[in-house]
Amino acid sequence: MKNADDAAARRDALVARHYEALPYPARAARDEKIRLIEGSPSALPEIEHWIFGGHLPARLRVLFAGGGTGDGCIMLAQQLADRGVEAQITHLDLSAPAQKIAAERAAVRGLDIRFVGGSILDVEKLGLGPFDYIDCCGVLHHLEDPAAGLAALRGTLAPGGGMGLMVYGQIGRSGVYDVQDALRLLSPEDEAPAARLGIARRLLPNLPATNRLRRNEAVNDHLVGGDAGIFDLLLHSRDRAYAIEDFVALVEDAGLGLASLIDPARYAPETYLNDPTLGRAAAALRPRERAMLAERLAGNIARHIAYVVGPDHQTPPPDPADHSLVPVWSRTGSGEMIAALGSDRVLKLSLDGLSLRFPLPQQAPAILKAIDGKAALREIARVVGPAAFDRAWPQTYAVLNGISRLFLRRP
Ligand SMILES: C[S@@+](CC[C@H](N)C(=O)[O-])C[C@H]1O[C@@H](n2cnc3c(N)ncnc32)[C@H](O)[C@@H]1O
Repeated sequence: MKNADDAAARRDALVARHYEALPYPARAARDEKIRLIEGSPSALPEIEHWIFGGHLPARLRVLFAGGGTGDGCIMLAQQLADRGVEAQITHLDLSAPAQKIAAERAAVRGLDIRFVGGSILDVEKLGLGPFDYIDCCGVLHHLEDPAAGLAALRGTLAPGGGMGLMVYGQIGRSGVYDVQDALRLLSPEDEAPAARLGIARRLLPNLPATNRLRRNEAVNDHLVGGDAGIFDLLLHSRDRAYAIEDFVALVEDAGLGLASLIDPARYAPETYLNDPTLGRAAAALRPRERAMLAERLAGNIARHIAYVVGPDHQTPPPDPADHSLVPVWSRTGSGEMIAALGSDRVLKLSLDGLSLRFPLPQQAPAILKAIDGKAALREIARVVGPAAFDRAWPQTYAVLNGISRLFLRRP
């Protein structure tokens, strides 16, 4: 037992040293003047839809647990400020250098964020909560005991609240652990981070064409993320990856329930199957098995993202058949989506190395054009024509919500 505790403490120290030396992801505050980084989890339309039934509470208490250099935190703080929602946002992290960068980014944007140094394992002891929404993106899989981390977060979740989680996907990270093992052989873990980075930089162009990381198009932090990206992906002293059923078990064992996996379409076998017999067999499976099948078929889900809620949560996601709701875009707009459709009305997407095609109904462009974040579905139906709208809306919504671009709000 003593040896196991010592090994865990040693890994804790290595993880802390890593994020002190290389705050993740590498960001410069001045870039906040020219762009907002948006993504999942924690985009405001996603949270409002999946956790709050399309209607945010009047005041939102938010925790970024292991918020790093601030991508999600800056995005949500900015989106809440733009909407004029009163919010208290707390950023909790072990790494002071990462928090310094996040604080500089917030300052450039004039955003008010509370920074607290400490471990998510101590969140209750720190007396920071309760929180209506908790983001924990890319952190649980670096803990010695991810279940303990999730339990600590759950303990500080307010009734009716929810969380946005991200953990690594086992199948989509094919090749990552081969190269991690290789680097441990070439450069012992207790060597200085700079020396280990030097070895990794030498190894990457030397990887043979058959190496599984080289063949994996779903993982690119080592190619685009600079030193921080290489270290985080290939030199981490503690990370684990989850098959989707193991991630769902982690969530459920913590007494939480899945509101949605993100993007829903990536966990639907039909996205990958063109054969009616296979499609029928897949449709007959239970939700967890369908997600397992989709993950095995796709092979490129390198990160599992989910919105999860507590047992007392009673607000279902908005119903697209309710025409009093207002459809809102996330990370796109009408013009961009119509352009992406092209004249054949087939939405073509490239997702982590996989080209996907989603045919949309004839009336879809007219519906997309009318979505302005203000008009309710019943008004859009009037513009398009009620019969045409009823024919086209369910499929249009299923595709665009399935790729996390379209959500619903209560007016
Ligand atoms: C991979 S980064 C993710 C940062 C951010 N959530 C994002 O997605 O961009 C992991 C972050 O978790 C922090 N971290 C790791 N273990 C932690 C713990 N026990 N408590 C608080 N923060 C932790 C690290 O310092 C680092 O900033």
